[in-house]
Amino acid sequence: LRISVLVSGGGTNLQAVMDSIESGKIKDAEIACIISSNPKAFALERGKKRHIKTFVVDKGQYPAMSLRTKALLSALQEARTDLVVLAGYMSILEPELIKAYSGRIINIHPSLIPKYCGKGFFGQRVHEAVIAAGEKESGATVHFVDEGVDTGPIILQQRVPVLAGDTPEELGARVLAVEHQILTEAINKVIAEL
Ligand code: GRF
Repeated sequence: LRISVLVSGGGTNLQAVMDSIESGKIKDAEIACIISSNPKAFALERGKKRHIKTFVVDKGQYPAMSLRTKALLSALQEARTDLVVLAGYMSILEPELIKAYSGRIINIHPSLIPKYCGKGFFGQRVHEAVIAAGEKESGATVHFVDEGVDTGPIILQQRVPVLAGDTPEELGARVLAVEHQILTEAINKVIAEL
């Protein structure tokens, strides 16, 4: 199965997927390409180290969203993508792309969806909001991507405790470790069902 991974930042989720393929935790799959919305994303370095094809599709080169969608679609098609994995991807996908890969796009989100998700809830902001709300637990979710933001059918979730005095960074690190685990498990689940 050919998996294309969309990234924007540090790429620790990408790294977890590459490591799982390398270790055999994920079988019958390979990373077809990595596409970043950010030319400076460290995720790109992680992919290059593994000799994986990388693309940058960003506002700098493609100011109009419609041009970015066309560039994304051609990169995904060139890579003969079977499954699209959004891993720390910080850009919205247009309906045209979601339709083209309907049922074959998954996303990892650092909260227990439907809590603390949707527009504005990404990265550290999620953990700040969870702590500010006095939640006793948080977690991570892998879900199918539909035309909403963080609204598609849930594939897997895993809880983590929010500890007294947690900073957003401490909670974020605890959640990120779980993201890495459930993303691998979710990919195996989807591969088995595709
Ligand atoms: C993290 O906030 C993570 O929770 C979310 O995207 C951000 C970066 O992840 N999924 P990564 O290290 O780039 O995979």
